[in-house]
This record gives sequence, structure tokens and C-alpha cells, in this order.
Amino acid sequence: LDRILVVDDDALILQALNRILQSEGYQVIAHHDPVAASKETDFSVVISDFMMPGMNGIELLGHFREKNPQSVRLMLTAAADFKTATEAVNRGAIFRLLGKPWTLSELTQAVKQAVEHHHLVSQNERLHRELSEKNVQLQAMNTELERRVVERTSGLLDGMISALDYRDTETQWHSRRVSLYARRLAEELGTSGEELDVIEQGALLHDIGKIGVRDSILLKPGPLTPEEWVEMKLHPELGYRMLARIPFLFEASKIVLQHQERFDGRGYPAGLKGTDIVLGARVFAIVDTLDAITSDRPYRKGRPLSVARDEIRRCAGTQFDPDCAEAFLGIADEAWLGIRAEVEKMEAAEHAKFGARPELPGYPPSQPRAPETKTEAKS
Ligand SMILES: [Fe+2]
Repeated sequence: LDRILVVDDDALILQALNRILQSEGYQVIAHHDPVAASKETDFSVVISDFMMPGMNGIELLGHFREKNPQSVRLMLTAAADFKTATEAVNRGAIFRLLGKPWTLSELTQAVKQAVEHHHLVSQNERLHRELSEKNVQLQAMNTELERRVVERTSGLLDGMISALDYRDTETQWHSRRVSLYARRLAEELGTSGEELDVIEQGALLHDIGKIGVRDSILLKPGPLTPEEWVEMKLHPELGYRMLARIPFLFEASKIVLQHQERFDGRGYPAGLKGTDIVLGARVFAIVDTLDAITSDRPYRKGRPLSVARDEIRRCAGTQFDPDCAEAFLGIADEAWLGIRAEVEKMEAAEHAKFGARPELPGYPPSQPRAPETKTEAKS
């Protein structure tokens, strides 16, 4: 039931209004004192007289405009006060003026329209509120879905990396480090958003194609023959073929394919030059060298970061993109050491969770192979 507040200091008018509106089916709250009326809160339409002692109609309706903005405000006014009242309408304090004296149909029409207006406004507000609540819910769902996608993606990539680890042991922490190093260097080069994820994924999976290289070559203790190198050098393409069919890894698969390319065109498999090589692969080449130099190898201890810096400076423009090399040299040692420490923590956590890996007798062959060239430690 619509509640209508009626305010008039004239008892007869108040009574008449009360009777008419009740017969129209409204619930009426009648006040002859505007100050007392101003305390009312729960009504949809207010009809107020203009000239009243203590508080005039414009003041009262202005008060409701502040305190009860959803209420629709009507003012009764005699012709003499019409100008003042019109100004109040124009200021937006009043929905409509009613002349005094009114005709019955004028009054009932105006009240009916005011009530309808109130319904429309409240409905609109309710829809707005519901819409923004739904938006908040949708956003929460979206965030949750994105979180699940990220979780499942990283779970899947972890699985792929440990699959390679079963063939070519202890590469997973190298892969982890270069993926985070690559992300850091790409950030330094101004990359952001999804492209960073792509670079991180490509670096993480760079050697995944080695799954397809035979044991006799992958695990050969001594140096490879030229024929064996031909097979070993297929690994970028094997990795690319594995990943390119997975839509969300397609961009990363290009990095895998090109991770052995060199800036001067002397890399493989395609001998691409300069910026024909995707940025992720140019970034990878640098951080792979960083990790190869600073990591322990079975045949030598890891060397200090300064050695890696010198090597990357020396090979800028030949093996490496000079812009990427410059960006690399601009990053403080602490960044690289921090990432290394982070990966060591991941390694310790995995050991704590799964324990030592079950040993296979005679696998992998114990004697490690020395790298072919200085920086090709993990080709
Ligand atoms: Fe490789």
C-alpha cells in the first residue's frame, strides 16, 4: 500500500485531503505541524502546503529532498505564491505544483502520477542495485575461474617438465630458473601482461622436445658424433610440434622452436637472424647462458655472476640481441640471486613433499658429458 504524507496547517484542508486520498486507496499520514511532519521517514509521496507557521512548504520539501530523496514531492499553493513555488520546482525540490483550490480530478491525477513516478524510480534503483550486485558476483566468478585456469595450466606444465626430468635428470630446476629469469628480463624490456606469461612458459618448456631424443644420444656420457648432433638438434622442432597444437601454448611453442637461434643467424634450426627471432627466444638465449655459467655442473662448480655478465657483454650483437644484452646488464645481481634462491625453495619444498626420486639401477648413466662449447652447457 502506498503511504502518502499530507501536511497542511489548515485542519479542514487536511481533513479533505485525507478523505479523498483514503477513498483513492492510499494510506495517509496527516500532519498539521510541518516540524512534526519533517520527522516522518516511510512514505512514497508527500503533499505539503506552502504557507505554514514554523516551516514553509519549500523548506519542508527541501528537507525531504535531503533526508528522503526517493519520496516524490508535491506542493499545494495559492496563486499568490505561484512564483516562489515555481522557482522551487525549477530547482528540482518539487515534482509538481497543485493549485489551491484544486479540483478533485487534478488532485487525484497528480497523486496518481506521483505514485507511479515513485514506483518507476524505486524500480530503477532496485534494478541498478541488483545489476551491480550481479556484477560483483560475476567478477568474483571470473576471478575464481582465472585462478583455476592459472592453477591447472601451471599443474600441466609442471607435469610436462617432470616428464622431461625422468629422461634427462635435474633439468627441471634449470628450466624453472630460466623461466623466471626470462620473465624478469622481459619485464625490463617493457613486456607486460600475457606476453610475460608466454615468455615464462616458453623458457620453462624450451627443452621439452628432448623427450623425443633417443637415450643413446640424450644420455651419452661422451661427446656426440656429428650424426648424433643432427638428432640432438631436432629437439627444438620436436618440442614445437608437441606444443603448437595446444592453443594456449602456441605462442610459447615459437620460443621453444627458436631457443637455439642466434642473433647473428648462426643458430639452429632455421638460422633466423635478428628480430626475425621472437623476443622470447632472444631473451631466453641470454638467461640460458646466465644459468649455464652460474650453476654447478658435475664436472665443475658454478661460476660467479660477473663471469656471466662478461660473457653476455662479449657476445652482444653476435650470439645475443644487443638490446636484450644491455637490458640484462642493467639489472642488479640481487634480482638473479633472488630468483635462484626462490627456485631453491621450490626444490626443497618438492623434496619435502615427495621425498627423493626412486632410483633406477644404471639410469641415467653416471658419467656426464661436457658441453660442446663454452655457453652450450644446456643446449
Ligand atoms: Fe635446448
